[in-house]
Amino acid sequence: MTTKVRLTKLYDNKEIKSTVRQIAKDITRDYKGKNPLIIGILKGSFIFIADLVRELRFPLEIEFIRLSSYGRGQTSSGKVKVLQKIAAKIKGRDVLIVEDIIDSGVTLNFLIDYILKKQPSSLKLCCLLDKVARRRIPVTIDYVGLIVPDKFLVGYGLDWDEKYRNLPDICCVEDEIAT
Ligand code: IMP
Ligand code: MG
Repeated sequence: MTTKVRLTKLYDNKEIKSTVRQIAKDITRDYKGKNPLIIGILKGSFIFIADLVRELRFPLEIEFIRLSSYGRGQTSSGKVKVLQKIAAKIKGRDVLIVEDIIDSGVTLNFLIDYILKKQPSSLKLCCLLDKVARRRIPVTIDYVGLIVPDKFLVGYGLDWDEKYRNLPDICCVEDEIAT
């Protein structure tokens, strides 16, 4: 018996791009003239952050942190590990965290604590996708792109077991079909 995965397109690249532009407008309004440190969470945010910063026409710096809370499956293990630290100094900086998708809130909650301990002068959060229905830890997000249904999503940087990050659209993974 073989199994097959069905992908259904949920948001096409055009819709994603206009969402990114709207977020960029809001960020520009708040950060122009501030030289913020933008921190992307790897790996999922790499495409979003690349598109986002190209819509921001003011001085800024970019860093990445690599966190992991998912194994090979579709639900968080609940334990967050720092796989790659931030190189830049955080103290006294205006920090904006950029995340691809928020599910339980465990990852962001961990990162907020981690960054606040380093004494930034301000900290705000941005995510492209928010799976609000699955929140276990409340987190206030300053810039949200799209509220998404409680489905497992892939594409535009999001993976399932490291696959599908390169899809230009955001798709949902339907049940596996036995053939
Ligand atoms: P949380 O800690 O449960 O909020 O999960 C956040 C992290 O899990 C994100 O950084 C994503 O990498 C990953 N994640 C959550 N939902 C999805 C999804 O639907 N597809 C792919 N990755 C997801
Ligand atoms: Mg992931």
